[in-house]
Amino acid sequence: MKDHYGRKINYMRLSITDLCNLRCVYCMPEEGVEKRPHKKNLSFEEMIGLVNAGVGLGIDKIRLTGGEPLVRNGIVELVKEIAQIKGIKDLTMTTNGILLAKYAKDLKAAGLNRVNISLDTFAPEKYHKITRWGNVDDVFAGIEAAEEAGLKPIKINVVLINGFNDDEIETFVNYTRENKVDVRFIELMPLGQSPGFAENKYISNDEVLKRMPELKPIVQREKSSPAEYYRLPGAKGRIGLINPISKHFCKECNRIRVTTDGKIKPCLHSNQEIDVLALRKEGMTYEEILLKAIEEKPEKHHINENEKQLLRNMNEIGG
Ligand code: GTP
Ligand code: 5AD
Ligand code: SF4
Repeated sequence: MKDHYGRKINYMRLSITDLCNLRCVYCMPEEGVEKRPHKKNLSFEEMIGLVNAGVGLGIDKIRLTGGEPLVRNGIVELVKEIAQIKGIKDLTMTTNGILLAKYAKDLKAAGLNRVNISLDTFAPEKYHKITRWGNVDDVFAGIEAAEEAGLKPIKINVVLINGFNDDEIETFVNYTRENKVDVRFIELMPLGQSPGFAENKYISNDEVLKRMPELKPIVQREKSSPAEYYRLPGAKGRIGLINPISKHFCKECNRIRVTTDGKIKPCLHSNQEIDVLALRKEGMTYEEILLKAIEEKPEKHHINENEKQLLRNMNEIGG
């Protein structure tokens, strides 16, 4: 289905839990999720209702996000049920990888196609610091398990942070020489927790190209993905640059987001939300609710124009 600006909306990102087993400093407060009064999370049944209606309107790509999706009980069952819905071409997950070694095989068997894994540094002490307590070996084990299970192609998301991991740009790029994965650098966005944190820590992804001039562009932008892709000559894997700040991709934005507590966000960088459960109570169908959200999707974000800060943390939106 097309929105007002001619964009084909085919991608639904479902955040299935606010909870996470890590506390990345740019994403979540240390004490975890603030309990909102009267908060009600969507049940799996309600999520499946939304997905079914979405597929009827032309959604063919579903991403499960969080928080950390693998901490939600029943996750494999949810994947299985969504995978059975006819019309979904790509069923994927964004995860921090900590629990992947445990779940990769079952997720694949349940019908998950692939995973994107967050990893901001290869260095154990730095990983522990940025995640507040994570063990990077768990992520390496997760990547290996995902490969073995055939959850491919694997994409590794690296949020680029000045003074923290810009010294590892070369290491990450070189990782693609021998590993058939996409390493994607993401520009740090001033969301939720991160505006305070992000001060002086944002660097444009141009820095990656400056430091690694041998990278050659391969595709400008893949349909339905926010990354521009590059490759080192002869490398097995690719480098992706996701530039929400320096060059926003709003013109080709093809997605809507559903939060754990049942709000549809037509745009990541706006506080505008459509309350699924409230509208259901008023008698609207899932299809009507989705149509309303697509109708209200803004033309572009105003993150560079100092629009007021986003009220939700990233763990409540799912990226
Ligand atoms: P692929 O289908 O594998 O390309 O996944 P994806 O890039 O859509 O999903 P992923 O969860 O890996 O997203 C990576 C990051 O890109 C997100 O966490 C955000 O930081 C950023 N991103 C994704 N979609 C958007 C978007 O619509 N707007 C902005 N500003 N950033 C986005
Ligand atoms: N800016 C950019 N990326 C972020 N992520 C979380 N918070 C931010 C932020 N403020 C990334 C995570 C994960 C993806 C879902 O979003 O590292 O890879
Ligand atoms: Fe898409 Fe959000 Fe960028 Fe608007 S802001 S295009 S909706 S990502």
